[in-house]
Amino acid sequence: MGTSELNMTGELELNEIYCMDCVLGMQKISNNTIDLVVTSPPYDDLRDYNGYHFEFEKIAQQIYRITKNGGVVVWVVGDKIKNGNRSLTSFKQAIYFQEIGFNVHDVMIYEKRNTPFMRSNAYTNCYEFMFIFSKGSPNTFNPLKTKTVRQGKEKLVANKKTDGVNNKVWGELNPEKTLTNIWEYAVGLGGSTNDKIAFQHTAIFPEKLARDHIFSWTNEGDLVLDPMNGSGTTCKMAKLLKRNFIGFDISQDYVNIAKERIKLIEKQPTLNSLLLV
Ligand SMILES: C[S@@+](CC[C@H](N)C(=O)[O-])C[C@H]1O[C@@H](n2cnc3c(N)ncnc32)[C@H](O)[C@@H]1O
Repeated sequence: MGTSELNMTGELELNEIYCMDCVLGMQKISNNTIDLVVTSPPYDDLRDYNGYHFEFEKIAQQIYRITKNGGVVVWVVGDKIKNGNRSLTSFKQAIYFQEIGFNVHDVMIYEKRNTPFMRSNAYTNCYEFMFIFSKGSPNTFNPLKTKTVRQGKEKLVANKKTDGVNNKVWGELNPEKTLTNIWEYAVGLGGSTNDKIAFQHTAIFPEKLARDHIFSWTNEGDLVLDPMNGSGTTCKMAKLLKRNFIGFDISQDYVNIAKERIKLIEKQPTLNSLLLV
């Protein structure tokens, strides 16, 4: 990253986590600076929850302003269910992001492998949304791949003529294919992370979720922001993947946890030793 790009974060340092209202924090960042936002807002307890302010529209507008053309935002969100009624806040927020200029590039599902939540008169909810907003077409897409079921050589259809005859020829089957847009993760200790300290925060998302998005939508040296950084999952994964990061959280306790997790990387620096594969 060149010096001019560093200057675009104003008085903020790269690779730092700040205790700050994210609207104020983002106001310090120049237009078109951030390659990727990976974040999860507080769900539905919208204002003055635990003493902090969550001003969704202002946050969305700032995110739009500072995201680069071709940059991407991953907005991980679920709905609260009150008196049997789903809030649909997730969709209201997504529609707002679209109204202020983002493309809704995809609506992905984060499926939780082990979910304790049950309702007596509805199926157990096991997912949250991962809205993928982009400012124009994404600059980067490094698709994650999975092995295909059938491997090796097979007679494949080729060269179908107007007479309807299929001429089959031997061909190599594709050994891998791009993942679908439903991603499943284990949650809890040993699932979301091995960092016990992270669980002092009640609403973390899995490290692998952050890792997979950072890998997909950025390249080494790019700048990743989590404006509602919580226990610091996004920043930790950005550091491990050699991306630059900035995090904001309104709670000093959470900022302390996040900084501690970054320090843990320095003690145990390889990606494989930190990630549950
Ligand atoms: C769902 S949690 C994020 C958890 C995070 N993804 C993780 O893995 O640890 C939402 C966070 O937003 C923070 N928050 C709420 N309002 C904020 C604001 N205005 N500015 C910055 N952070 C805020 C809360 O303190 C909370 O830690």
